Amino acid sequence: MNELDRASELLRRARRVVAFTGAGVSAESGVPTFRGAGGLWEGRPVEELATPQGFAADPVRVWRFYEQRRCNLARCRPNAAHDVLARWQDRFAAYTLVTQNVDGLHEEAGARHVLHVHGSIWTVRCTRCGRERHEPAAPLPEVPPHCPACGAMERPGVVWFGEMLPEAVLDAASQAAAHADAMVVVGTSAVVYPAAGLVQIAASAGAAVIEVNPEASALAHLADVELRGPAGELLPRLDALLAGAPA
Ligand code: OAD
Repeated sequence: MNELDRASELLRRARRVVAFTGAGVSAESGVPTFRGAGGLWEGRPVEELATPQGFAADPVRVWRFYEQRRCNLARCRPNAAHDVLARWQDRFAAYTLVTQNVDGLHEEAGARHVLHVHGSIWTVRCTRCGRERHEPAAPLPEVPPHCPACGAMERPGVVWFGEMLPEAVLDAASQAAAHADAMVVVGTSAVVYPAAGLVQIAASAGAAVIEVNPEASALAHLADVELRGPAGELLPRLDALLAGAPA
């Protein structure tokens, strides 16, 4: 039995399924990943661009970086992997899609109730009154943007290094992982915690872990099945097997 067959067997038996995604799921949509050659963090001072200290030191520099990403993302569309992961909400009895991605492409593919453990690049939050709002404009009317309620500067609605993850979202994701029959881990290097810890929660609770990634992640040793290749090719083949069609 090949790896795709094994993965589909495991998923056929599963009632409660969690998909856990990282930047790699959006790679085939033209969104750069963070680590590795050509990654967003390659040669960039992460501490200046993705920490509260970096923002305090130079908010305009940080906003220029996020504005560039927002403008790039505005041109990107979901790929076949996003489509499959959205369709799975109708395939499994209980299905939770947890993403580290801030790009919104899962929702654009039709996914509902996505758990965003690292926030959203399409949300901005006031640095003074804390008010959050959806801001889809790319380019932004002004950089940095200002709060329509109190006039103070806003910040990107993403989680930076050294910050807490949104508690309710992380709780919901941890619960789903702890009760999963299977977890499909797609396109993440699994090195950023606590998000990566969700894979450990699922594995130690006995879930079957299926990794979809051209390369082994830091947690590949926890995987029961390793599907090595691009998610945009492998997930549609896996989905076809689940639907009973030849892959
Ligand atoms: P990384 O850039 O660390 O890892 C991307 C992963 O995607 C790698 O393991 C690649 O092998 C894999 N990959 C590349 N192309 C792929 C494809 N076509 N199909 C499937 N997999 C592919 O990105 P993340 O793991 O998402 O956090 O990074 C985790 C967090 O670190 C991000 O959420 C972000 C970043 O700093 C914050 O900003 C808080």
